[in-house]
Amino acid sequence: MSTFLIAMLTILLPLFLFCFFLEPRKRRPGEPPLEAGWIPFLGVALDYGRDPLAFLRETQKKCGDIFTCKIAGKYFTFITDPFSFPAAVRQGKNLDFQKFAIGFSQRVFGHADFTADVHNGSYKEVHSLFHQTLQGPSLTLLTQSMLGNLQEVLRQNLPKGEDWEEEGLQGFSNRIMFDAGFLTLFGQEAGLTAKADDRQAKTDPYMRKMANDFLVFDRAFPEMAAGLPIHLCVRAWLARESLAEKFLHARLQRHHSISALIKLRMDAFDRMQLDERGKARTHVCMLWASQANTLPTAFWSFYRMLRY
Ligand code: HEM
Repeated sequence: MSTFLIAMLTILLPLFLFCFFLEPRKRRPGEPPLEAGWIPFLGVALDYGRDPLAFLRETQKKCGDIFTCKIAGKYFTFITDPFSFPAAVRQGKNLDFQKFAIGFSQRVFGHADFTADVHNGSYKEVHSLFHQTLQGPSLTLLTQSMLGNLQEVLRQNLPKGEDWEEEGLQGFSNRIMFDAGFLTLFGQEAGLTAKADDRQAKTDPYMRKMANDFLVFDRAFPEMAAGLPIHLCVRAWLARESLAEKFLHARLQRHHSISALIKLRMDAFDRMQLDERGKARTHVCMLWASQANTLPTAFWSFYRMLRY
């Protein structure tokens, strides 16, 4: 036991001293205010993780609209003034989304490292599918399919009897948009279609489980984006794996009305050296990309339309 303790101290003490006395980064001329916190390495990670929105609002009050925070060893610059977004977006050449996105996506979604030589060429082909299927005539087809699914999901949500039912706007909008978006990209499992007419979208356990898993996973995103390993976000990790289970190719192959984007991605991943679980996790990634911005955008649009 004492040998174990000595061994641990020998490893951990220098590490702690290194982190503690390491010269912290200072704000340089022309840079936004820096919130580095007082905890070595972690910086302001704990405050941010506790309530990201409250933390950002408080820091905005203290530092102004643009500021940098040290979170788990990394420096993130937040732009909280929407009128500054266009200026930042115009810096596309200096702010490389792909460089950040691929590494981050691998950590959070648990798929293969697509920057590795063995996958790199094939992944470029997979990435080019966005251009093929998310613009021009293919996008028109996708939009029409989304419109049809929205109408179908809304129809399934109509109350059976004469009575009106009440529910919160966000719950309603999330459900409608999630179901329609999911069906548009991933289609529907063949065995479930026969019962579709009787099924109420609101109470369909398959879809509700998927939507709930998505929301659990999405809620943990700020922490994961800040660098917290997904294995420490146990609920998010379980939710991700439960979603991946539904996206195993053996299962997706039984879906009908699957979009061209997902069909072509499945074919491309089948040609790469990936295990089945890894392929399924890339579809969780696509589900997240398609829903994470859509749900809040739809909710706030509905809210503004109804309110003003
Ligand atoms: C209102 C809804 C949406 C908003 C505000 C939104 C916003 C964004 C933004 C800001 C990016 C990062 C782009 C960059 O900096 O290069 C992005 C990436 C992406 N989005 Fe969306 N998005 C929305 C809906 C969707 C939907 C419905 C889909 C799928 C059909 C989708 C698929 C993607 C994909 C695949 C990427 C990654 C592109 C790449 O790696 O080059 N998004 N989205």
